[in-house]
Amino acid sequence: MSTLKYALILLFFIISIPSGVAWYLSTQKVPVTYVNDTVQAQNTLNIPPLLEAQTYGDTLSFANLILQTGMTSFFNGIDTDTWGVNGSFLGPTIRIKKGQTLKLNIKNTLPESTTIHWHGAEVPAAMDGGPHQIIKPSASWSVTFPIVQEAATLWYHPHMMGKTAEHVYKGIAGFFIIDDENSENLGLPNDYGINDIPLVIQDRKFDEKGQLVYDHKHNGHMITSGMLGNTILVNGTFAPYQDIPPTLVRLRILNGSNARRYHIGFSDNRSFKQIATDGGLLEKPIERSRLMLSPGERAEIIVDFSQDNKVAKLISFPINPEPDRFRDTLAKIMIGKRDENQQFNLLEFRVQGQSSAQTKTLPEKLNNIAHWTEKEAVKKRTFRLSSSSINDLKMDMARIDEVVVKGDLELWDIINTSSINHPFHIHGAQFQILSRNGKKPDAHEMGWKDTVAIADSEKVMLAVKFDQYADPALPYMYHCHNLEHEDMGMMGQLIVVNSADEKIRFHPPAETKSHSTH
Ligand code: C2O
Ligand code: CU
Ligand code: CU
Repeated sequence: MSTLKYALILLFFIISIPSGVAWYLSTQKVPVTYVNDTVQAQNTLNIPPLLEAQTYGDTLSFANLILQTGMTSFFNGIDTDTWGVNGSFLGPTIRIKKGQTLKLNIKNTLPESTTIHWHGAEVPAAMDGGPHQIIKPSASWSVTFPIVQEAATLWYHPHMMGKTAEHVYKGIAGFFIIDDENSENLGLPNDYGINDIPLVIQDRKFDEKGQLVYDHKHNGHMITSGMLGNTILVNGTFAPYQDIPPTLVRLRILNGSNARRYHIGFSDNRSFKQIATDGGLLEKPIERSRLMLSPGERAEIIVDFSQDNKVAKLISFPINPEPDRFRDTLAKIMIGKRDENQQFNLLEFRVQGQSSAQTKTLPEKLNNIAHWTEKEAVKKRTFRLSSSSINDLKMDMARIDEVVVKGDLELWDIINTSSINHPFHIHGAQFQILSRNGKKPDAHEMGWKDTVAIADSEKVMLAVKFDQYADPALPYMYHCHNLEHEDMGMMGQLIVVNSADEKIRFHPPAETKSHSTH
């Protein structure tokens, strides 16, 4: 008899506690950032201008980048205060060929110190533009580096300690496109702005006066999801449309948002071919109908518009269309996860003109990638991501976390122990994804990457080799590319040495000892 009584009491608690918690959670009013999905495409898409460089001989290109404040009109008749590069919002596209040398002079006319980092580029640590290469107001910084890596769609943005998120949010970012012999000989669409279109997707929040609002700390969640805006801009254009020819079109898509992920596809569910990941072309085109991009990631896709005579809408689909009620409610309280389960428009394509003799087919083979294996690796490291730290540490500019030997193939296990997503990014090298939760990655992840989405509780194994440059005195960064997480200290420093017995000679920066808080 008493056993039954205890069993009943136990059963009562088993049923009532979780439902009580679920009921309590469901009564909590949590602000959700609803992306405005009713706006009609109304503005022609801005195409970032190509950076005009002076070319010396055929190997050196020189140009100026001026970081400046300005006013941008995103909405009719409203001037918004913004930051930009050689303009009022975003910056010009750097386009250069492998083998050439790039010389840039970056002048900071902003009211604050900042840096400019070449995301995805293999450059010496001293030129990397990380938190140690500060450009003070009115100062300039010059870099000269050869382009040593293959064709890819990279980008540049600030990397000022504790300020990266805000500086990117205000508008400092641009594309950095590399071409090479191979990419030029494949017959891929490459008429910039016509059938080869860069798209940087960013979400922003505006106040009633049309000014940018940066308020990630006050969104009411327990763990910050980072800054989520309710207004989508593509290349700095609100509600954009773009005229395109009825042919194959290449889109170079960059998630340049601080924290929002996009689940990209077409409203008619058409498929497209993914041809490149962050750091280069895939071996062959991969047919897909959805593309997930986390902050910092890029993908190149080819879309066939030859059968279209009207409009085709690029949209962002819900990330998790059938959420688990209980988990979702919990996640909503913690991080506002429901923000990601919305569907909204990104860009409308309006197919115009005659189908010309332009590219109609894609080559079957795009690239040769030497796939690394676990067995070849000589070193293994583990990085545990919690909700805001890496291996339980917050970024400290005075501390070197890892020392890597140039040319060594390493395995990096990235383990997400938190309930939120973290896009993990490494400077100074492109890596390969060897496994995701013990399984071989999907075909579209079998290319060069510098940023990889690590979903909650996931474990991803990377193979990485820093084989270009060593500098025993200056570090590269690795970090979460959710920019608010990065600024909160989810970042570490690694130094590449020439050989195992070389000692590091790092001198911690004088003014910036520790930056563990934000
Ligand atoms: Cu795109 Cu360390 O950054
Ligand atoms: Cu980077
Ligand atoms: Cu993160």
